[in-house]
Parts: sequence; structure tokens; C-alpha cells
Amino acid sequence: MLIAIPLESHPAERRVAASPDSVKKLIKLGFSVSIESGAGVQACYTDAAFAAAGATIVADPRQLYAAADLLLKVRPPHDRPQLEHEVDMLRAGATVISFLWPARSHELIDRMKAKQITALAMDQVPRISRAQKLDALSSMANIAGYRAVILAAEHFGSFFCGQMTAAGKVAPAKVLVIGAGVAGLAALGAAKGLGAVARAFDTRPAVRDQVKSMGAEFLEVTIEEDGEGGGGYAKEMSPAFIAAEMELFRKQAKEVDIVITTALIPGKPAPKLWLKDMVELMKPGSVIVDLAAETGGNCDLTLADQVVIHQGVAILGPTDLPSQLATTASQLYAQNLVHLLTDIGGAKVQDPEQKDFVLNMEDEVVRGCTVLHRGQLIWPAPIKPQPAAPKPPAAAQSTAASVSSHGRGAPPPKASGSASKALATWLSVAVLVAAYLLFKDSTDSGAQLFAQQMTVFALSCFVGFQVIWSVAPALHTPLMSVTNAISGIIVVGGILHLKGDLTSPAALLALAAVLFATINIGGGFLVTRRMLRMFRK
Ligand code: NAI
Repeated sequence: MLIAIPLESHPAERRVAASPDSVKKLIKLGFSVSIESGAGVQACYTDAAFAAAGATIVADPRQLYAAADLLLKVRPPHDRPQLEHEVDMLRAGATVISFLWPARSHELIDRMKAKQITALAMDQVPRISRAQKLDALSSMANIAGYRAVILAAEHFGSFFCGQMTAAGKVAPAKVLVIGAGVAGLAALGAAKGLGAVARAFDTRPAVRDQVKSMGAEFLEVTIEEDGEGGGGYAKEMSPAFIAAEMELFRKQAKEVDIVITTALIPGKPAPKLWLKDMVELMKPGSVIVDLAAETGGNCDLTLADQVVIHQGVAILGPTDLPSQLATTASQLYAQNLVHLLTDIGGAKVQDPEQKDFVLNMEDEVVRGCTVLHRGQLIWPAPIKPQPAAPKPPAAAQSTAASVSSHGRGAPPPKASGSASKALATWLSVAVLVAAYLLFKDSTDSGAQLFAQQMTVFALSCFVGFQVIWSVAPALHTPLMSVTNAISGIIVVGGILHLKGDLTSPAALLALAAVLFATINIGGGFLVTRRMLRMFRK
């Protein structure tokens, strides 16, 4: 099965849908790979590097498209200058995988339908944990958030970090990020990295912990309303909430130097959040970078791909930020494609004549991103009914919610949490009462010692359980180091009891304690080593 990767001929596009590394992986999956000559030049991937990875370099684009069983692209197929439309150059029944934006690409979809194309949209990958590795929107938003800060720094007339110089003090820049999704969090990380004072606002309280973990302040309004709209996306907020948000922004406008807006509500035009009067409240020299420019902008004054200067404030509306970091963007996007093709099952074909994939429509990810199947429009995928979430306890709602591994949205608090806590408390009390009742009248010193030790044991269980249960899941790893230290004490205590008759109950218990504590210590070291390896560059 032949994969073709063409040059992205859109004037604002520097990315390419492959890297030499991804080519090697595609070949391992059983594909042959052809790449248009010069396709990777703007992303710093030479033809020679692609050829060395095993790709065939094709100079004639028409030949490349005509031979393709599967076309991998970044931008949706379009008219190529001096050539025909990319879809027209493909053979009937070929497969296309790229960003497609099906809601706004009616003409393209009709054209692909007419050629019985199978089309998978990288922008329709569902936001579920299992699909993180092929979530190209997140890969690109991460780059956009970082790049937005660099762009702001280019237009800002001062340092990001504060400085104490011989000539005087320079205050650090104050950066406000609106919308702490993927792009917003990346922007916060970059701003903090440059030394700025960073703060963020989002309608989803679930991101509070993530914002704080970036070392930034999470701004809040007094109205309690959760903006979680499912799948880590936001929903539209009530007018009262938006009014409170505007009030907060008006206060912030007088203070901050840089505003980066990333607010998005799926399927809706970008919400207008930074209004003209807020721009006018900002200090001259301030910079606004509006990431939502392509969908209308979060700022009243944004013009896509232009720099507007209003009363000394620069308002930037770039729509090609990932393309500005073409090498990394191509590398990550190519990797997302490899993951998708791996999940699909590699070069296995349904029908050797038609050479199309075995697409498993039971798979939520494959079904979610398939727009056309052999020319049949099957998008949007039917919404899977979600199991009813248990109602979280009121206390859990008000405390900071933990975040899913996807980094978006909080899993519902464990309903069984408080029940287990109560059970543990009652068990400990029961053991204590039983020990007291059994031994209160005893004069036997051995029995008294036993009662004493049972009391200590029950109390340790109670305190240990309460402490561990109150620790946020994010802190379980450091907690494990502490339990390692406790296990060390248990090992010493156990060894001290290993004397006399080794078959006595006390010796056997001591032996078991030494064994389990040793396993805990060994396991702890192994897990910690694995975690450290993840952070090592
Ligand atoms: P996301 O969905 O992960 O994050 C958007 C965030 O906005 C969410 O956390 C949501 O809760 C928040 N939000 C929604 N309404 C809000 C409100 N009224 N106030 C405060 N926060 C609100 O989206 P992602 O992936 O981070 O993308 C962000 C934006 O960046 C999108 O508009 C996307 O199209 C754009 N983007 C722009 C690029 C460019 O080159 N300009 C490249 C990639 C993405």
C-alpha cells in the first residue's frame, strides 16, 4: 500500500505530513512511502534525509497523486497552483488523511464524495485519553501557545523577567492568559519560562490545579458556574457569569502588559471577551495575541494575520503559529499520523483490488475521525451515550478538582471515597473498643501488652488511612517516598523481632512484615526511577 506525501502548497504553510523518523515507522508498518521532491524543505527535512529513511522521492506531483493509495497531508486538499485540485489528481477510491474541518468544507466533501474517497479528519479525533497520542489539534495548540508568547515578546518593548540593573529596576511583564486549555497552558509555561508574572482565567474550574502547577495564578469570579461542556471542552456561560468575567478583565486590563486569548467553545464562533474598552484601558506598549483569530477572534479589534495598533496597544491575530515552528510541528503531526495508522492496523487492506483500509467502525477513535467511507458521508459520528456520572459530594465540588491524564477536564470525584473513609474510621474504632473490652479487666502483663500494641496498630491504620486519603492524586509519588521511609522502620522493627523460635506467631508476623516492607521499598525505588527517567532530557 503506497502512501504519498505531497508538498503543502498553501502560501502560509511550511509544515509537511512526514519526518524522516515517521517515514521509517510507516515502512515498518508495511507501507511504501513516496514524497514529493522538496516537500520537507521549509520544515528543514531534505529529500536526502527522506530518501535515507526509505522514501522514494517523486519529482512529478501528478505521478505522486495518481499512484497514491493513501494521501497524507496537513491542510485539507485544495487547488494546487499550476496543477489541478489535489482530489482530482487522486485515483478513485483512494484514502485521504489530513485536517479537513468537515463542518465548513462542503465543497471539498462533495468533490471527495464524487471520487468515492475515504477521508479521515485529524481535527475530529475525539478528546479521550486513549487518543491523546494521535490528537493533532493538541500537538498544534501546544506549539501555538508557546509561539504566541515568543511573538508577544517580539512586539513588547521590555523584558519579560524583572531586572535589577545599575541604572535602575525593571518590573517583570505581567501576562494574562484567557482560556487555559492546551494552548493556554503552553502559553503560561512559556511566559513563566521567560520570567513573567503569569495569571490565567478559564470558565472550567477543573483547570485551576493545572494553572497553579505552571506557577501561575488562577483568577476567579465570585459567581459559581462550571464551564465544563464534556470531553475537556467548554460550554457557553450564562450572561451573569460573562458580565462578572468582563468586570474581572476590566480590572486586569489596567494591570497587565500582555494578553493571550485562547478561549474556544466547540462549534461556536470565538467568544468576544476582550472588548474595545478593555484595549483602551491597557497601557500603551501592551500586546494582545489572539489565538482565536481564525474563528473571529476573542478580541473586538483582532484582524486575522494582521497587526492592529490601537492607542499604542498591538493586537496580533496570527493564524499560522504551528507553521512558524515548522520542524517541530511537522515532527509531532507526523507522529500523530503514525499513531493513527498504527491504531488502524497498518497496511492491512480490506480489498486488495480497492486497496482501502480495514476501518474498524466499532473503534471510537476511528469512527470519530472518519468523515467519508468510500464516498459515503458518515460524519458526524453518533454521540456515544455517556454512563450517568455519580453526583459528586458538595465538598468535593468546591475543592480543587484533579485532572485527567489527558490534561483536560476532571474525572468525577470518586463517590466511594467518603464511604471507604467512614468504613475505615468505624473499623478502627471497633478494633479499639474490642481491645479495650477484652483486656480491661486482665491482669496478665502479656495480654496488656497485646492490647497496647493492638491499640497502636488500630490508631496507625486510622491515621495512615486518613492521611493518604486526603493527599491529592498528583502527590502520590512523593507520598510513596515517605512510605518508603516508613517501610525502612518496619524492616528494622521486624528484624529485631526475628529471634528465638522462628516458627512462633510473632516471628512469622515479623517475617511477613519484613517481606512486605522490602517489596514496598524495592517497588518504590523502581517506580521512582521510572518517573525520573521520564523527566530526564
Ligand atoms: P481548548 O479547548 O483546549 O482550550 C480553550 C479553553 O478556552 C478551554 O479551557 C475553555 O474552557 C476556555 N474558555 C471557553 N470560554 C471561555 C471564556 N468565556 N472565558 C475563559 N475561558 C474560556 O483549545 P486549544 O486547543 O487550547 O485551542 C485554543 C485556541 O487556539 C483555539 O481557538 C484554536 O483554534 C486556536 N489555535 C490557534 C492557532 C493559531 O495558529 N492561531 C493554532 C492552534 C490553535
